[in-house]
Amino acid sequence: MAHEAASSEAPLTASGFRARKGGPPLVCVTAYDAPFARLAEQAGVDGILVGDSLGPNVLGHARELHVTVDDIVHHAAAVTRAVSATLVIGDLPFMSYATLDDALHNAARLVRDGGATAVKLEGGAEVAGITEGLTARGVPVMAHVGLTPQSVLATGGYLAQGVNLAGAQRVVDGARAQEAAGAFAVVLEAIPVRLAAVVTEHLSIPTIGIGAGPNCDGQIQVLHDLLGLADRPPPRHTRRYTDLAGAALEALTQYCDEVTQGAFPSVEHGFKIRRGVIDRLSFD
Ligand code: KIV
Repeated sequence: MAHEAASSEAPLTASGFRARKGGPPLVCVTAYDAPFARLAEQAGVDGILVGDSLGPNVLGHARELHVTVDDIVHHAAAVTRAVSATLVIGDLPFMSYATLDDALHNAARLVRDGGATAVKLEGGAEVAGITEGLTARGVPVMAHVGLTPQSVLATGGYLAQGVNLAGAQRVVDGARAQEAAGAFAVVLEAIPVRLAAVVTEHLSIPTIGIGAGPNCDGQIQVLHDLLGLADRPPPRHTRRYTDLAGAALEALTQYCDEVTQGAFPSVEHGFKIRRGVIDRLSFD
């Protein structure tokens, strides 16, 4: 149900988000600008991720790997200016948390300059030390295991993870390492439905699925997939709820036609000038 007066609600914190484990499903979506962030909050989402999917969906990049800390800060600031009740999570982009020093510096930028109330990083046991260091210094961390788009060069593509024993164990170990390191939630991306269900059952923090089936504590989707704004076929794990690209194209085509044909603008779209001014103008 849509929030009627989202602005009067107390902002959801990372610990409030974590406390929702086992309750009604947590609803998250990505957003990258103020208008869509406002709509997402009005619709009633719990969390907005300013994700590095910004790259392919908004900035015209082929992949997430090209997104910078400056990009996330810039877009997170637009999102946080538009919402008041929603938890805003800023994504730490590729290589921005290679060392704890980098992670602390860049997380501080997302929080201080972007207004984010939490950060997200990709990886399991191998980056648990980073999560521990960030949480120890007061930065709430959402983890992300399974398909991790920042690793596509190493994994060979956007492939489902955890489908065999070794892969499934890696997902379990990664999620548990992140939980132990202090993450307040973990995104499970593109892993089998039954694996996501058992991981959810064994963790004390919420699991947020994307392509991980219905048994997670919450779901996240990329806004442009949900709204039909992405210029690629929708991934298997998404549902296109509307065709905003189609509606926008129709509207813009009509605008082009009306300007070309002289049907827009008409006199009532213009402004009036005081009587006599035109007659007294000089073009000498
Ligand atoms: O950047 C992003 O949009 C993400 C989601 C797919 C979880 O990481």
